[in-house]
Amino acid sequence: MASQKITRVGVIGAGQMGAGIAEVCARASVDVLVYESTRELAAAGRSRVMRSLDRGVSSGKLTEREREQAAWRLRFTSDLADFADRQLVIEAVVEDEAVKIAIFAELDKVVTDPTAVLASNTSSIPIMKLGMATQNAARVVGMHFFNPVPVLPLVELVTTLMTSPEVSERAEDFARDVLGKQVVRSADRSGFVVNALLVPYLLSAIRMVESGFATVEDIDKAMVLGCAHPMGPLRLTDLVGLDTVKAIADKMYEEFKEPLYSPPPLLMRMVEAGRIGKKAGRGFYQYDAK
Ligand code: 3HC
Repeated sequence: MASQKITRVGVIGAGQMGAGIAEVCARASVDVLVYESTRELAAAGRSRVMRSLDRGVSSGKLTEREREQAAWRLRFTSDLADFADRQLVIEAVVEDEAVKIAIFAELDKVVTDPTAVLASNTSSIPIMKLGMATQNAARVVGMHFFNPVPVLPLVELVTTLMTSPEVSERAEDFARDVLGKQVVRSADRSGFVVNALLVPYLLSAIRMVESGFATVEDIDKAMVLGCAHPMGPLRLTDLVGLDTVKAIADKMYEEFKEPLYSPPPLLMRMVEAGRIGKKAGRGFYQYDAK
């Protein structure tokens, strides 16, 4: 059966990544249904998207009318059964394998169109594990976006030994032609291309702080001024979330057993203390409450 153009997308999770993915889909004139488990989380997700759309208007990238139209295209639900008519579902929940596996098993039952694509925005969990939670691993791919999603133009497309070429092509066409992203392909290895390179760098910066090698501010300043990075590694760790960086590092360590992927104790202690970065108001830096 020939698959139709994707116009109905589902996004599971409205945290910083899910909200960003929902926003770029809505801005690309796609009908978007977003899942959050409670009304409160759905309301928080909608305000995250609205804040970012407002920012688009104030920076002159969006007109007021485009903001309103994008907002109308976004609906929220707490019932996965509502995803039955979706042609593409992108899962973007917390980086927890058991949670993602349960979601893929459920989505597989609900989304009955065999040409529909089930994608995960996971940073580090092998896509095969999610595919094998379904009855049809051929329609499961990785579509990995970058934070902030409205700003960063990359999507890593991850296919498994089971993903069908039609499904990977459909996902790639959507990311490139509808969302206007650039796509790189990665093998199904924990961390894919970007995090396999980025995470050891972030962990090394945390080890430098831990050993008193240099201050947080100086490490960041060194990489911004010395290497022209847009932000230093510790501010970037705050942006990604220390909990997420730790979860990715744990998965990569599990896969490769390389010491350079193992989370340093300072990272573990900060996560235990709830100092998980910008979203919590405190990480390596302090942030104003939004
Ligand atoms: N939503 C929408 N737009 C945003 C935004 C957001 N959350 N944050 C910034 N922007 C826009 C601004 O409106 C501004 O647009 P303009 O130039 O048209 O006015 C532009 O981005 C630049 O923003 P600012 O001037 O406020 O700030 P900066 O110039 O310092 O840029 C940044 C902020 C875009 C976050 C930049 O510092 C950056 O790109 N940092 C690196 C981020 C990065 O490496 N992300 C990847 C993380 S890894 C990942 O996500 C994978 C995961 O698996 C871990």
